[in-house]
Amino acid sequence: MSQTPELVVRGLHVAVEGKSILKGLDFEVARGEVHALMGPNGSGKSTFANTLMGHPRYQVTAGEILFKGRNVLEMQPDERSRAGLFMAFQYPVAIPGVSIANFLRTALNARLAPPETNGTGTVPARRGIAPKEFRALLREKMALLRMDEAVATRYLNDGFSGGEKKRAEILQMAVLKPEIAILDETDSGLDIDALRVVADGVNALAGPDMGVLIITHYQRILNYIKPHFVHVMVDGRIQISGGPELALELESRGYDWVREQQEEVETP
Ligand SMILES: Nc1ncnc2c1ncn2[C@@H]1O[C@H](COP(=O)(O)OP(=O)(O)OP(=O)(O)O)[C@@H](O)[C@H]1O
Ligand SMILES: [Mg+2]
Repeated sequence: MSQTPELVVRGLHVAVEGKSILKGLDFEVARGEVHALMGPNGSGKSTFANTLMGHPRYQVTAGEILFKGRNVLEMQPDERSRAGLFMAFQYPVAIPGVSIANFLRTALNARLAPPETNGTGTVPARRGIAPKEFRALLREKMALLRMDEAVATRYLNDGFSGGEKKRAEILQMAVLKPEIAILDETDSGLDIDALRVVADGVNALAGPDMGVLIITHYQRILNYIKPHFVHVMVDGRIQISGGPELALELESRGYDWVREQQEEVETP
C-alpha cells in the first residue's frame, strides 16, 4: 500500500453559487486503500465528491486534483468516469424509460472504448461488449449483490425503494470496475441485511485494484468494510485523520471535540 497515490488533492477550494464550501482540502488515495470520510452535515463531503466527478455547479477556485498523474480539472465528467473514477450518489436519480441493463451496457461500453471524436461530439470508438458476454457479467454481479435478475429490466431507480437505489449504485460500480470508487452515504437507508450484502459486494470488488472513499455518518458500515484511514471534515477541510479507531471515538464522543481543536488552531 505504499504505492504512489492514484488520486491526489491539494489545497482544494470550491465555491457553490458564490459561497465558499471547501477551504483548502488535502487528500490522497492509493490503489487498494479504503478511506472513510466523516463529518457533520453541511461540512462539504458531498461537495468534495461532486467536485471530483466534475459537477458543473461546483467551481474550483484554487488547488489541484490529479488522477493517475492527469489534471482532473481539465477533464470532462465523462472523461473522468472513463479514466476510472466512479461515484455512487447520495441521492440517485431515476431515469424512467431506460432499463438498468441498457444503462449499464451503455455505460460499460463508454468506459471500455477509447473515445473518438466525430462532428457531433465524442462517441465510443467500437461496438463494445457482446450482448451475451454482457448478460453473463450482469448476472454474475447481480448474484454477488443478491439482486433479483428481473430488476435488470426495470427502469433505472424508477419507483425503487431507498435501499434498492443504493444497491443499484453498487451494481453500477461492480459492472464498471472503477479504480477509485466514492460511495456517498451508500449505507444510509439500507436495512441490516442489505448493508451486509452491499459491504460484501464492495469488499469483493475492492482489493489491490480499487481505492475506495466511503462517505458515511455511521461507524456501522466500517465494521464490514475496514477502512485503512478515517478522516473528519469540518467546515470544508480535513480536520483530523486517523485509523479505524477514530470512527469509534466519533461514535462515542460526537464532533464537538474536533471542532474545538479547530478553534484552538485558529485562535492564537
Ligand atoms: N448546489 C448547491 N447549491 C447551494 N448550496 C449548496 C449546493 N451544494 C452544496 N451546498 C452547500 O454546501 C454546504 C456543504 O454541503 P454538502 O452537501 O457538501 O455537505 P455534506 O458534508 O455532504 O453534508 P451531509 O452530511 O448532510 O450530506 C452546505 O451548506 C450546502 O447547503
Ligand atoms: Mg452529503
